[in-house]
Amino acid sequence: IKYIPEPFRIKSVEPLCMLTREERESRLIEAKYNLFGLKGEDCAIDLLTDSGTGAMSTGQWAGIMRGDEAYAGAASYEKLIDTARDLFGYDYIQPVHQGRAAEKVLFPLLLSAGKLALSNMFFDTTRAHVELAGARCIDCVVEAARHPAERARFKGNMDVPRLEQLLREHGGRVGLIVMTITNNSAGGQPVSMQNLREVAALARQYGIPVCIDAARYAENAYFIQRDEAEYKDVPIPRIVREMFSHADLFTMSAKKDAIVNMGGLLGVRDGASDLIQGIRTACISYEGFYTYGGLSGRDMEALAVGLREGIDESYLRYRIGQMEYLGGLLDDAGIAYQSPVGGHGIFVDAAALLPHIPYTEYPGQVLAIELYREAGIRSCDIGSYMLGNDPDTGKQLQASFEFTRLAIPRRVYTQAHLDVVAEALSEIKQRAHRITRGYRITWEPPILRHFQSSLEPI
Ligand code: F0G
Repeated sequence: IKYIPEPFRIKSVEPLCMLTREERESRLIEAKYNLFGLKGEDCAIDLLTDSGTGAMSTGQWAGIMRGDEAYAGAASYEKLIDTARDLFGYDYIQPVHQGRAAEKVLFPLLLSAGKLALSNMFFDTTRAHVELAGARCIDCVVEAARHPAERARFKGNMDVPRLEQLLREHGGRVGLIVMTITNNSAGGQPVSMQNLREVAALARQYGIPVCIDAARYAENAYFIQRDEAEYKDVPIPRIVREMFSHADLFTMSAKKDAIVNMGGLLGVRDGASDLIQGIRTACISYEGFYTYGGLSGRDMEALAVGLREGIDESYLRYRIGQMEYLGGLLDDAGIAYQSPVGGHGIFVDAAALLPHIPYTEYPGQVLAIELYREAGIRSCDIGSYMLGNDPDTGKQLQASFEFTRLAIPRRVYTQAHLDVVAEALSEIKQRAHRITRGYRITWEPPILRHFQSSLEPI
């Protein structure tokens, strides 16, 4: 697969450091085998996340200087609101400091003990905020998503017949339907417009609000344009508008497709909604006054610019092209991943590479540790290690997948970096049969454990 050239040139660079193998080994021990415990500067290629790790453009940096820091009613706030209303077509836009802040502000207004939230798939912080509000989550992704080798289109979709069955069973208890686009936990897999439309129709029938978890809305729109026949000539901004028209609310981590290092949004389609007052009040308590929501004026200015840059078609072609290029290298090496490639990274099928390691020993985490050992590449587990324990029984849950996620930061790494990643994975594949044991957790917090827990080799 041909590498699509960057539609930009590089103006500012950041040196990388390469530790020796021995140094990396001791860093792993110091971090208690938790890759979140490593220092960024000790990672040669940092694919831990695509969140807040993108490179800002000259336009965004210019915005940083323009930022208006008025406490209330800053010009940068107005600019952000105008841009977001124009892109998404929602009446009310609330800035917040990141995606989980939007979840924290919104979910308690809709969910409480005994309630359920249904989703194509909850991302971990989203799941945590549903649970913190007292409610419970049910994931409802299409079956194809559970088969990494099956190259189906739109593997991020909601399983609509299953959703309908759940609504019939639990109707009154369901407080919210969350459409995560793209579906991060299923491998950055897109959701089709058709699916969004069908979910919206069902939700309307049962009178349940739909919230888009919109972190990677632009990548999702690109996939719709590329793979859903009726949208092939529709410009990305129109696709974005239509996607959002199939929901009532959105929460957005702007640290992904809006290419800022910090920021988030919460949107309400109907300006007359009672929710808006609740959102403003909660925002003032948790985030800051509602015209800044935990962001500096300069952050809002950079975000207003990033929202538009993120939906640029030539940028998106290059961006998804990077995933395809890396996916092609892995195909050549016979390394399985959630296929076809998703929007923000490659999710290597660690269970396929290390079939002899049970989920209770966290194959996704094992491979992530090996990648760091091998080449100083930082990645993360998206599997049973991340999923954690059942909130009611405390028992380890078995995830549908055991992935090691290589999340690609936006506009940061080049073709040669991707080559290094593929080579490292090939090396590990050669010696995979000699990696016989996984890890056990020696300490974990009660929620979102993968960020903090300590591990040791078994
Ligand atoms: N929703 C999705 C789909 C996400 O991927 C994330 C974050 C959030 C919500 C929360 O947003 O981090 O701004 O508070 N995902 C990051 C990741 C952390 O690495 O995938 P946040």
